[in-house]
Amino acid sequence: MEVFIFKDSQQVAEYAADMICNLLDFKSRAVLGLATGTTPIATYEVLINRFRAGQISFKRVTSFNLDEYIGLQSSSPHSYRSFMNKHLFDTIDIDPARTYLPECSPGQDPRSVGPDYEQRIVAAGGIDLQLLGIGGNGHIGFNEPGSSLGSRTRVKVLTQRTFEDNSRLFNEGDFQPHMAVTMGIATILDARRILLLATGEHKAAAIKDTVEGAISAMHPATVLQQHQRVRVILDEAAASQLEHLDYYQWVQLQNDSIAAKHGGSADEDPWFHN
Ligand code: GLP
Repeated sequence: MEVFIFKDSQQVAEYAADMICNLLDFKSRAVLGLATGTTPIATYEVLINRFRAGQISFKRVTSFNLDEYIGLQSSSPHSYRSFMNKHLFDTIDIDPARTYLPECSPGQDPRSVGPDYEQRIVAAGGIDLQLLGIGGNGHIGFNEPGSSLGSRTRVKVLTQRTFEDNSRLFNEGDFQPHMAVTMGIATILDARRILLLATGEHKAAAIKDTVEGAISAMHPATVLQQHQRVRVILDEAAASQLEHLDYYQWVQLQNDSIAAKHGGSADEDPWFHN
């Protein structure tokens, strides 16, 4: 795990957008794994600005989102499809037909969504870069504590904590789903590169466990410790409980000096090598 600590959430977004742009520079047909939640919105805003400035195109990109609620029409303002349209897809040049979410159409057996989604990801060539946020209880996607570390895309029932955390995004009286279809933990680990973003003090405890805790299904994000190319991108508040904070900052400085001496472009960054 590489831990990067930035001053604020805007710098986190700029760095995440840099990684995505670098990837698209040498692989315009990249397959992106995308996330919802408040955290990645700033990254999407940076990407939109760069698209508007003509610095980046998503024309040949395919995307797979981590998760989608069960029981909401895709046109519902609370669906993750609507979220993605609003915060990214509607403003960039991505082909909407190549933007996938694990959606369950009305009347469809939700258990049938996962296997199809897995096949689609494989058919697209696998995910080149997966963007992740983190739940306060350590969930990634909607893989709640106790999720099998070998899980694939499937139905998950949300914990009461996640339900309550996410209720802020629903108005009173709105139907709020208790279930979702989410990529599994093994699905996420199949991605070639992973960027985990966390900002704000309310994420500090979850980040401490993720980076410095023991791998456990009870804190699903800890499994990322096993992946070869994970970058954990934090602002100072989200990093504030890390015991080895000074060390991560020191490592960052040393790596910056290697990049300054030997080249810091995506070509020269081992993270981008296949
Ligand atoms: C939801 C999503 C997760 C996301 C989490 C945190 O539960 N399924 O993918 O990481 O919320 O969201 P936020 O960034 O709003 O804190």
